[in-house]
Amino acid sequence: MKEIALHIMDIVQNSITANATLIEISLEIESREDTVSVTVKDNGKGMSREMLMHVTSPFVTTRTTRKVGLGISLFKAGAENSGGSFTIDSEEGKGTELSAVYVLDNIDRPPIGDFAGTAHSLIVCNPAIDFVIRVVIDGREDALDTREVRKVLGQDVPLDLPDVSAWLKENLDEVFPSEYVMF
Ligand SMILES: Nc1ncnc2c1ncn2[C@@H]1O[C@H](COP(=O)(O)OP(=O)(O)OP(=O)(O)O)[C@@H](O)[C@H]1O
Ligand SMILES: [Mg+2]
Repeated sequence: MKEIALHIMDIVQNSITANATLIEISLEIESREDTVSVTVKDNGKGMSREMLMHVTSPFVTTRTTRKVGLGISLFKAGAENSGGSFTIDSEEGKGTELSAVYVLDNIDRPPIGDFAGTAHSLIVCNPAIDFVIRVVIDGREDALDTREVRKVLGQDVPLDLPDVSAWLKENLDEVFPSEYVMF
């Protein structure tokens, strides 16, 4: 059973491949509703209607190295296996939004995993892309928006600079506290 953070890593790779310049990742834990919800939204090249219809099948891919694309179908299956749901919406030239809802208190729900570490890797490995990392835990919302970080640092300071990277990690650890990793 793959951790939710690792699915997010896969799904965001698709956004990067689709030339997104802004990727918004949202994680919401609502214990009263018994849900964990994940949304990934990008402004990349999007998909055709036909691609969108077939994309949740593991036999659809535009990869050339192997025949099956698994990222989206495994993300969908993970959510549905916990009794949750999955939606995807995409428009060519506009972008793509995927959303998975897991049932929090379900034996088949994967643990969240290292969400802060995943977000941090994505930001520092893709310093030209902007990310909005939003976490809501029982109504308490916190977020990190790299566009705001750039405003403070100056547009010419790269986000993968060691000091900046360390500062981003500290902030992401506050946005997503480590006690939720095994949650
Ligand atoms: N955010 C996105 N924007 C545009 N196209 C996308 C996006 N996400 C997926 N796609 C399209 O859907 C296809 C299937 O994606 P999926 O992640 O399931 O498999 P894959 O990326 O092809 O292979 P894998 O994830 O197994 O490495 C991709 O090949 C790509 O053409
Ligand atoms: Mg993929």
